[in-house]
Amino acid sequence: MAASYRKSRGKDAALRRLILIVVFGVVSLVLLLSINAIIESLTSSSFETDERPGVGHYNYTFDVKNLKLPKQNELSIWLEKRNRMSPRNLNLYPKLAEDHIVIVLYVHNRPRYLRVAVDSLSLVAGINETLLIVSHDGYFERMNKIVESIKFCRVKQIFAPYSPHIFRKSFPGISPFDCKDKDDPGKVKCEGTPDQYGNNRSPKIASLKHHWWWMMNTVWDGLKETRQHSGHILFIEEDHFIYPNAYRNLQSLTELKPEKCPQCYAANLAPSDVKSRGEGWQALVAERIGNVGYAFNRTVWRMIHRKARQYCLFDDYNWDITMWATVYPSFGEPVYTLRAPRTSAVHFGKCGLHQGQDEDEACIDDGALNLELEDIDRVPNVKSVWNVYQHKRQEGYRAGFKGWGGWGDIRDHKLCLTFANMYGASK
Ligand SMILES: *[C@@H]1O[C@H](CO)[C@@H](O)[C@H](O)[C@H]1NC(C)=O
Ligand SMILES: *[C@@H]1O[C@H](CO)[C@@H](O)[C@H](O)[C@H]1NC(C)=O
Ligand SMILES: *[C@@H]1O[C@H](CO)[C@@H](O)[C@H](O)[C@H]1NC(C)=O
Repeated sequence: MAASYRKSRGKDAALRRLILIVVFGVVSLVLLLSINAIIESLTSSSFETDERPGVGHYNYTFDVKNLKLPKQNELSIWLEKRNRMSPRNLNLYPKLAEDHIVIVLYVHNRPRYLRVAVDSLSLVAGINETLLIVSHDGYFERMNKIVESIKFCRVKQIFAPYSPHIFRKSFPGISPFDCKDKDDPGKVKCEGTPDQYGNNRSPKIASLKHHWWWMMNTVWDGLKETRQHSGHILFIEEDHFIYPNAYRNLQSLTELKPEKCPQCYAANLAPSDVKSRGEGWQALVAERIGNVGYAFNRTVWRMIHRKARQYCLFDDYNWDITMWATVYPSFGEPVYTLRAPRTSAVHFGKCGLHQGQDEDEACIDDGALNLELEDIDRVPNVKSVWNVYQHKRQEGYRAGFKGWGGWGDIRDHKLCLTFANMYGASK
């Protein structure tokens, strides 16, 4: 009896042990899995991966969390430090207006153009209420001098520390083993991947799309001056002439946007057709987002950031065409911007970004501008009683466009995705 009792107790104990082991196993497995999931969610980026690749769209997957920024040289390290310097003119403008719209001016190396753009900004009503950020692609003394001379508002200068223009002997600049022109890396021993047209990487050309993406990520998620900014940010370039009424008009547009145009993601200073100065109607206009003077808020930035793969893996070196052909279409509904019927900014000048790449051969068009501003363009001219006319037929690049190329090198794709992850997987 005692023996059988012991025996059955022994059996019981064995069963209990087995159950315990099983339960323990299951619990630890669940724990392990959830820890894994937590780690995954902490370290993995928030990019979407379910995108269907289109034409000209590379579809490999990278382990984004293991991508590393290129090794920096001295200049790059120094510029990165400089980016942390406080804005200039804090003494002149100790307080920004409560509802200010930050202005980001992104530039390369066309000092004569920049002069015109900056002079136009100096006459913008309300500019002294806000922060102007100048984002430089490359380090050029003449460009610096102009920015350093600005006294009409608070100014912060930033320099893309991984700009190809900063690296003389290594990626993202030209490195000695790079494939050139139409080299086929299958036949010639060289580094690089040609684009869809068989052309190898040109660092100067790739710099444009890198700069835009680095700047966006840095302004929204990196800089302590702006990463908490809850309103809109306006983006302009060195070859844009900004009208005196631009800032006040933009304030009206962003204020009217939620009510007048819920389908609008952005507000624009200029028509999407860069040659147009507007229709002159008594109505606001909703159309596709143009590349001259566009402003949007953090909600929209988060949407764009989630499409990092669409941006970084599309074989076109133009940031704007990339946005039109892949990023905006991936939002799943037509993407509109709200603008006034008269423009508040114009794109000027004939020198493209590919001219004037080097300091000594800066493009010589002097940017002289025959712009006759009418009186109505000097004062705020957006009326809150206006209705919105929606341009249903959106001209231009759209989903399905296969891209102009110039963006085929895997190293560029990786660098671009790394920029998106640079400030931590963002919420
Ligand atoms: C995408 O992936 C598929 C299969 O994984 C491959 O056959 C195709 O060529 C890839 N497309 C591009 C553009 O790389
Ligand atoms: C900004 O400029 C306007 C007009 O020149 C002036 O009235 C206003 O006091 C200035 N504000 C600041 C903060 O400097
Ligand atoms: C930002 O803009 C979008 C598009 O206009 C809008 O839907 C959203 O509510 C805005 N977000 C905030 C925080 O105002």
